[in-house]
Amino acid sequence: MTNQTIPPPIFSGPPVSRWRGPFSELRRDTLGYLLNCQTYGDVVKLPMGLVLELLLRQRDAAMYVLNHPADVKHVLVTKQDNYRKAPVAPVESRIFGQGVLHTEGDMHHHQRRLLLPFFHGNHVTAYADLIADKAHDLATQWQDGTAIDIGQEMAYLTLSIIWRLLFGREVGAEADTIRETIAVGQRLIKLQYDSLLASLTPLWVPTSAHRRLTHGLEAMESMLHRFIEERRGASHRNDDVLSLLLAATDMDGRQLSDEEIRDELMTFLLAGHETTANALTWTWFLLSQFRSVRERLTCELNEVLGGRVPAAADVPRLRYMKMIWDESLRLYPPAWSLHTRLAHTQDHLPSGAVLPSGAWVFISPWSLHRNARWFPDPNRFDPERFSEAANRTRLPFSYIPFGAGGRRCLGESFAELEGLLILATIASKVQLHLVDGQTIRPEPVMTLRPNVPMQMTVERAGITEPHFVVA
Ligand code: HEM
Repeated sequence: MTNQTIPPPIFSGPPVSRWRGPFSELRRDTLGYLLNCQTYGDVVKLPMGLVLELLLRQRDAAMYVLNHPADVKHVLVTKQDNYRKAPVAPVESRIFGQGVLHTEGDMHHHQRRLLLPFFHGNHVTAYADLIADKAHDLATQWQDGTAIDIGQEMAYLTLSIIWRLLFGREVGAEADTIRETIAVGQRLIKLQYDSLLASLTPLWVPTSAHRRLTHGLEAMESMLHRFIEERRGASHRNDDVLSLLLAATDMDGRQLSDEEIRDELMTFLLAGHETTANALTWTWFLLSQFRSVRERLTCELNEVLGGRVPAAADVPRLRYMKMIWDESLRLYPPAWSLHTRLAHTQDHLPSGAVLPSGAWVFISPWSLHRNARWFPDPNRFDPERFSEAANRTRLPFSYIPFGAGGRRCLGESFAELEGLLILATIASKVQLHLVDGQTIRPEPVMTLRPNVPMQMTVERAGITEPHFVVA
């Protein structure tokens, strides 16, 4: 078709600088900017500015923010083959390599087919006792009345769990190196989002942040290579991801190289604990703010568990806790934005917009979840939005904390089981109160995390005590 038969699409959007595009405003308040974009319609065009047009050698290069769930479904599911992940910043590419998070096409299908069974069904529930035991041990260590950095506690807990899944052993002193490297990586990725200069600076340029990241990654890599080598030489095969990868073959039937195994392990190590830790941190935050929700949860835990450590079979009976978890993921989705997709060819969206070939398509769970059209009074915390009745009437694809389509989160079942068991175990033992005087805001880096370390005080709670029983 020619331009004579299709009129050029007209999009609305906030005013942006012709040279610099929307990046200064986005940098100033990313989350607020995205919410403001809702006021301009279902598809909002953000021209990237002349500087990026020149660098990308793409005329009229623009991001298109999707605000309508029907368009989201179209891009992520119905026409997903037309929308591939856009190239990643150098730091991300250095960290994740050719792991399943960033590959495309046949290679990506092959990796998913290999890994998915490990993170589903009975294989996942087999880890329930391990998760609950670790959460129980952690809560037992907390002293009554002391203050803890809940984000850090959750990160170490989820790291120790994913470590067992990946390597079949307990995490040791390595945990500090990993957490420190993630912190540097997060800061660098944020810097690259925020500054064009930073995003164009290769990692070999010896800035202090680059040196620290490289140093941390090298330490992690030498550890991964040591694990691979040890396991190759071992006579036994464990039931862990490392053994799965060592036994696997690539699309040509060849054994995976150490580098390919490194990339998958690194992907799961990072994607598989930071997200869940943030989801839990935000849930503790919400529970500390809404006493009536906390009390109802305590009643449910009393009724279902009666003081015992939960098992996988208890999870479906903890209905109200699941509603809290879902609502927490709505308000604070750890993956606040999906990876930007690039439109391969021009495409008509269900909302009526026509995306040009080369469009950079931006989908943000944060913004979709806080859109009053799909969630009335969207900033209010209300677990009832996820009651069985409400679940039946919700507009499909308005709630996508785990993404959708062929790139939906591989660890979703695991993350959910892990999150719910940790909540049930810890909430049965203690109450967590936000320390006064902190201003907590969500900060969008690689994941959506609190802007400051979140301090909470621990109150030991015998949940069978009558004062928790609410009529
Ligand atoms: C609450 C916790 C989690 C949330 C909210 C979450 C969210 C997401 C989202 C939104 C995506 C899709 C990104 C996109 O389409 O651009 C994704 C992908 C992925 N997640 Fe998760 N995730 C969580 C936990 C986990 C865990 C525990 C694991 C591993 C054990 C994991 C492994 C992955 C992998 C490997 C992918 C890439 C899938 C692919 O591209 O085929 N995630 N996650």
